[in-house]
Amino acid sequence: MIASPSPLRLGVNVDHVATVRNARGGPYPDPVCAARTAQEGGADGITAHLREDRRHIRDRDIERLAAEITLPLNLEMAATEEMVAIALKVRPHATCIVPEKREERTTEGGLDVIAGRERLAPMIAALAAAGIRVSLFIEPDPRQLDVARALGAPVVELHTGRYCDLHLAGERIAEAAELARIAEAAAHGAAIGLEVHAGHGLTYDTVAPIARLPQIAELNIGHFLVAEAIFVGLERSVAEMHRRMMEARMVTMPTAERA
Ligand code: PXP
Repeated sequence: MIASPSPLRLGVNVDHVATVRNARGGPYPDPVCAARTAQEGGADGITAHLREDRRHIRDRDIERLAAEITLPLNLEMAATEEMVAIALKVRPHATCIVPEKREERTTEGGLDVIAGRERLAPMIAALAAAGIRVSLFIEPDPRQLDVARALGAPVVELHTGRYCDLHLAGERIAEAAELARIAEAAAHGAAIGLEVHAGHGLTYDTVAPIARLPQIAELNIGHFLVAEAIFVGLERSVAEMHRRMMEARMVTMPTAERA
């Protein structure tokens, strides 16, 4: 019998299409159009972060993405009453709860689910009761995973930002240590029954070691794909990322099992 590798999905984050649009205040480039183009390139899902300050994605974008695209929508949001109310109204396929600070350029660090467990518990319960898959964006730390599990979240997304920053800085020893931390967290997450995702800062150069981890079911990637799209177009940047993910995933299988 020929075994297949465990599936790995690519969620394309379209936030920075909205960043470019908002730079001029007009209607283009349109994140919904970008979502359709990403689908052509092989995206399995679309992710968008409705930040409290609406600096890129806006409420109307989320409504349109939920209504007009056929791919599953993953709404990234802060753990606030306002965002939970929006999610319950829009009913995306999934939400990913992320930490948010107004002054940060992007999501820095994972959600501290240990410190925030009392506030998070009712939010996770409300979203889950509405049939929305809840993911928690956390550091690759087994203690955070255990609490995520105890809170009833079915999914965690491991923050790959530190690994990617260390790669860019050329700090190879620290990069390998961070990659090992992510690998251990992915294995631990799967062992305690969580679906494990990963994302933040991933590029063509950093995606393969993460895609190779067999427990990881989904990667969410945005900024690099939109940046690369300036040169080759979004369909091609997504297709090339997808190709690299699939190639890396094949390496997790013993040679004899490959078709
Ligand atoms: N996953 C989460 C939870 C995020 O907050 C982000 C950034 O919005 C991403 C993935 C994608 O990160 P990047 O844009 O750096 O690829």
